[in-house]
Amino acid sequence: MRIAVIPGDGIGVDTTAEAVKVLRAVGDTFGRQFDLEMLPWGADYYLQTGITIPPDGYTLLRGFGAIFIGALGDPRVPHNRHARDILLGTRFELDLFVNYRPVKLLDARLCPLKDRSVSDVNFVVFRENTEGLYVGLGGRFKAGTEDEVAVQEELNTYKGVHRIVKHAFEFAQATGRRSVCMADKSNAMIEGHALWQRVFRELAAQYPGIEARHLYIDAMALHMVQNPAQFDVIVTNNLFGDIITDLGAALQGGLGLAASANLHPGRTSMFEPVHGSAPPLAGKNVANPMGAILSAALMLDYLGLKQEAAAIEAAVQDAVVTGNGTKEIGGALGTRETGDYIAGTIRGQRT
Ligand code: IPM
Ligand code: MN
Repeated sequence: MRIAVIPGDGIGVDTTAEAVKVLRAVGDTFGRQFDLEMLPWGADYYLQTGITIPPDGYTLLRGFGAIFIGALGDPRVPHNRHARDILLGTRFELDLFVNYRPVKLLDARLCPLKDRSVSDVNFVVFRENTEGLYVGLGGRFKAGTEDEVAVQEELNTYKGVHRIVKHAFEFAQATGRRSVCMADKSNAMIEGHALWQRVFRELAAQYPGIEARHLYIDAMALHMVQNPAQFDVIVTNNLFGDIITDLGAALQGGLGLAASANLHPGRTSMFEPVHGSAPPLAGKNVANPMGAILSAALMLDYLGLKQEAAAIEAAVQDAVVTGNGTKEIGGALGTRETGDYIAGTIRGQRT
């Protein structure tokens, strides 16, 4: 199983090292051979070579079974162009239209809301990942002057909206979830989001066993805080999905715990923690590697290694509830020691 590993920038390097450590533990314990190939792309590489991603980079990535990526972002790179090419570029070029972000509270004490139990925060978000406001359609006119005009258009296509909404319904059906809630802003964005409304109605009719709900995105933000237990499967566009998955990460105990997958079912897909590169924390052994480790679990699950993925999830859950984690989740361990603990738990399962 060939896996491309792009640690990237900042704490992405720190947390990826722990995800790799855990993958090695899984490989040894379950007798799997993971062929991990490190790719140096990131801010340093760009500043040294002027290359964000090589011309054949996307073709190269397509040749792997999966891609694991740490984090990208560095204040030394204007507009983070390298992040745009490496992260967003891969999403677009490999057509990874599903951004899957589970929001699951592993221990009630980590929830910032009062009196919540783990069953109150357990939903998944499907974020459209190849269209919307991220496509870069637009431009600036008279830039830098007082007459500057900046236009950035949101792209919504029938096929693009249809495939992500359908994916959400299919997921709900396959996993026994009871409702799908679509969030848009069709009361203000009356053209683009009318398309979301139409597609959602069409598909809802095809899944009579699943409750189809709709909320405007602003109301969804409110409901996520007031009563997250009502959510099961959420589907929304690229930008709104970006925003509410940070909110979701907060509900589960912070960005350090949140995992994500960029998928095109049946094709090479990419797995990444939701956290950013956090340059001031880089190399300090303080970043929480659990989001990266849980993203590795999503990767193994996608590759069909269900038992291995479940072993990682169980080991992370154990680390969280026993307090064997980083400071921000109430532990006293560093990044590396947290990875050691989780890898050790997995190795302990060897029979
Ligand atoms: C994410 C990130 C990216 C996004 C940034 C780094 C471009 O915030 O994966 O959520 O907006 O998609
Ligand atoms: Mn984000």
